[in-house]
Amino acid sequence: MRIVSGIQPTGNIHIGNYLGAIKQWISLQEKNECVFMIVDLHALTAPYDQKTLQEKITEKLIAYVAAGVDPEKAIIFVQSEVKEHTELAWLLNTICPVGELERMTQYKDKSKKFKDNVNAGLLNYPVLMAADILLYKAEGVPVGKDQAQHVEMTRTLAKKFNSKFGKTFPEPKELMPEFGSKIMSLTDPKKKMSKSDDPKSYISLFDLPEDIEKKIMASETDSGKAVIFNVTKKPGISNLLTIYSILEGKPISAIEKQFKGKGYGDFKKSLAKTVINYLEPFRRKQKELLSREVYVQEILKKGKARAKTMAETTMQEVREKMGLSS
Ligand code: AMP
Ligand code: TRP
Repeated sequence: MRIVSGIQPTGNIHIGNYLGAIKQWISLQEKNECVFMIVDLHALTAPYDQKTLQEKITEKLIAYVAAGVDPEKAIIFVQSEVKEHTELAWLLNTICPVGELERMTQYKDKSKKFKDNVNAGLLNYPVLMAADILLYKAEGVPVGKDQAQHVEMTRTLAKKFNSKFGKTFPEPKELMPEFGSKIMSLTDPKKKMSKSDDPKSYISLFDLPEDIEKKIMASETDSGKAVIFNVTKKPGISNLLTIYSILEGKPISAIEKQFKGKGYGDFKKSLAKTVINYLEPFRRKQKELLSREVYVQEILKKGKARAKTMAETTMQEVREKMGLSS
C-alpha cells in the first residue's frame, strides 16, 4: 500500500501526535511504501515566526527519526520543497465546493481561535492536504481522529476528479489506531492535546524526566479515588489509562485491577515511570542526531529527490487529463 502522512513544523511533537500518528507510521513503514512530510505550507495558515521556521522543520525531522521513522525505509521531506503540492492544490480548488470547506470542523474551530486572521489558506487547508495525499496516489493515511474529516474530503475530491477527468486517483482511507486516536489535554481532559497550547497540557517526546513527572502528577483528574475507565464521568483518569495501556501494551481492565484499592497518586506515579522509560530512547537518539547535522540534511535532500520524481509523474498525468499543456 502507498501511505502518506504529515505533521506541521510548528509547536512541539507530543505524545498525542506519537500515539495518533507516528506510532502507526513506524509499523506501516515495514511493509508499505511510505511518504512522510513536514507540512510547512500548512503551518503558514496560523500565526508563526518566520525567523525560526527552518529550525522548527529540522527539529521535526529529528523527532520523526528519533521516534523510529527509518529514512532508509520511508521517504521523508519538506512539503514546500516539492512545488507540485501547490500546483495540484490549485487544480483541486477548482473542483472543490466552497460550502464543503466552510463546513469543516477544523476550519470552524480555527477561525474562532484566530479571529483576526481568518485567511483564505485556512479555508483551503483541506484542499492542500488532499493534494499532499493524491499527489502520491496514496491509499492509506495514518492520522489522529481530528484529521478524519479531511481525509474524507480527499476521497470526495478524488472521486470528483476521477468522474470528471477519468480514473486517476485511488480513494484513500484514514488509518486510525483503535486506541489513542484522540489523546486529551493533561490540564483540560475535555479538550484534545494540542501543540499550540500551554506546554503543561502535553508531554513532548523530549521532555526531561522530572518535567514528565511534574506534568503527570499535576494533571487534571476527576473527583473520586478509584482508577476506573469512564470517559464521561472520569475523562482525566480515562485519558491517563489510555496512555498507560498503550505504552505498557496491557488492556485497560488489567490496569484497573492492578490499581484496585489504590488512589490516583499511586497510579500517576507509576504512569510517570512508564512514560519516562518509554521516551528515554527517543531522547537519547535525539541527542545523537542533534550532533549529526550533515546526516540530517542529507535525509531531507534524498527524500525531496524521491518525492519529486513521484510528484512529477502524477502532475504530468493530471495536466494532460485536465487539458493543460504537459
Ligand atoms: P498536528 O499536531 O495538527 O500537526 O497533527 C499531526 C498528527 O497528529 C495528525 O495526524 C493528528 O491527527 C495527530 N494528532 C494531533 N493531536 C492529537 C491528539 N491529541 N491525539 C491523537 N492524535 C493527534
Ligand atoms: N492537516 C494535518 C494535521 O494538521 C497535517 C497534514 C497535512 C497531513 N497534509 C497531510 C496529514 C497529508 C496526512 C496526510 O495534522
